[in-house]
Amino acid sequence: MERTYLMVKPDGVQRGLVGEIISRFEKKGLKIVGLKMLRIPREMAETHYGEHKGKPFFGPLVDYITSSPVVAMVLEGKDAVSVAREMMGATNPLKAAPGTIRATYGMDIGRNIIHGSDSPESARREIGIFFRPEELTDYSRAVEGWIY
Ligand code: TYD
Ligand code: MG
Repeated sequence: MERTYLMVKPDGVQRGLVGEIISRFEKKGLKIVGLKMLRIPREMAETHYGEHKGKPFFGPLVDYITSSPVVAMVLEGKDAVSVAREMMGATNPLKAAPGTIRATYGMDIGRNIIHGSDSPESARREIGIFFRPEELTDYSRAVEGWIY
């Protein structure tokens, strides 16, 4: 089973969308295997967004993601990375497909509610940044392999 790293960004937390967002993934059939709230230290944010270092939005992005707590989670399921990305929608909420999280709740590319890993490799890297191995759980759900 594939794992992905997702994070309700500061604007999502401030607007009271945490439950709504987690609920969408739960209802879809993705399993929560790690979950916590944290205020991201600056250095951790710069590592997480390392691929964007040098781009004009990097500074504002790090300022924003460290400005207030986030809710970090690891979700597990069949093709979890791409399923979650589809559910999030495009980076720019104004371009995101109708019904996706970013399209439904967002207006601004710099305040787009949620982060999700873009590949299984990114997921492994990002899970390693935000969670210690012992913070992730390994459990079966009764219906696993039968329904999602
Ligand atoms: P990126 O990894 O390209 O998008 P995604 O979150 O969909 O994987 O960019 C990371 C974040 O940087 C993005 O969620 C919002 C912010 N960002 C901007 O503020 N301006 C931009 O032009 C881009 C491309 C991203
Ligand atoms: Mg990205």
